[in-house]
Amino acid sequence: MVTKVVDLRSDTVTKPTETMRAAMASADVDDDVLGSDPTAYRFEVEMARIMGKEAALFVPSGTMGNLISVLVHCEVRGSEVILGDNSHIHIYENGGISTIGGVHSRTVKNNMDGTMDIALIEAAIRDPEGELYYPTTRLICLENTHANCGGRCISVEYTDRVGELAKNHGLKLHIDGARIFNASIALGVPVHRLVQAADSVSVCLSKGLGAPIGSVIVGSKSFIAKAKRLRKTLGGGMRQVGILCAAAYVALQENVGKLEGDHKKAKILADGLNQIKGLRVDTASVETNMVFFDILEPGNITVEKLTKVLEERGILVMPVSSSSIRVVLHHQISGSDVLYALSCIKQAVLGLPVENGDK
Ligand SMILES: Cc1ncc(COP(=O)(O)O)c(C=O)c1O
Repeated sequence: MVTKVVDLRSDTVTKPTETMRAAMASADVDDDVLGSDPTAYRFEVEMARIMGKEAALFVPSGTMGNLISVLVHCEVRGSEVILGDNSHIHIYENGGISTIGGVHSRTVKNNMDGTMDIALIEAAIRDPEGELYYPTTRLICLENTHANCGGRCISVEYTDRVGELAKNHGLKLHIDGARIFNASIALGVPVHRLVQAADSVSVCLSKGLGAPIGSVIVGSKSFIAKAKRLRKTLGGGMRQVGILCAAAYVALQENVGKLEGDHKKAKILADGLNQIKGLRVDTASVETNMVFFDILEPGNITVEKLTKVLEERGILVMPVSSSSIRVVLHHQISGSDVLYALSCIKQAVLGLPVENGDK
């Protein structure tokens, strides 16, 4: 019988800590749609300060944060956004920027490290002379860390260069910073500096930071004023939202400092997986809290079988293709959980009998 679950599917699976639950229970709240929730106000002011932007807005999810941001920057019909072909906005957000916002996407190939070649971005910017035919480029989106590229970090130098390019062409820059704090910690660059070139950033609170619900978008005061209207349009205006912001505030205070430990555990896991015959990890690409590993052919086990065997042992992982699996570290995975997961994966891959009493 499984006595303990080690959930490595995502960093979205964290449970609110006791401190968060206490903060939620005692939060001073009011109607945030009427603009009078003091806890939401305090959280947004703090978030704007940390991110080095004029204002911030709490939103229910990262998807809504990105959607609102793109729509604010592309409010004129016929707008086009340049974004990575492997980006979360392009792949996993139901095409909302086009179905809801009427915004046209122009994808540029994401490199393995999550960047797009600057020359390719520049080449994708529409020539205003052709406006009779072309949509109008208004926005460039980056993603940091880049989830589908293994949680890799986009450097501040690269971000500044894209910001410069955007400015030179009269475009805006949005960063899907769902895990921007992971990037900031891994790069050793303060988060406000990392996003300095961006006109807006969307940050998830319910991923590595461990809050139960919510994201925040940051930008100029006029950007946030427009974002607030759109949030209401999309049904994201919430009343006593201070309950959620109280947990998010605790996440900021208590959990940013834990991300470094998550990254170390990811390295240990990656190195351990790489030593198992039949598996391969590009350990150099493990920069934050994500590890992608491949099952080599011909092998003893398939992705489907390994996922099932591990589940029976209480270890949950995320298959991402017919040959690879993703695991994600977060603050509720301990060092001994990592060792336990490694030993179970090894037993399963090598076809060894499962040892009892590991946990
Ligand atoms: C890079 C990235 N951006 C945006 C999102 C969307 O966040 P949410 O699930 O809160 O809508 C995710 C979610 O996994 C993500 O990984």
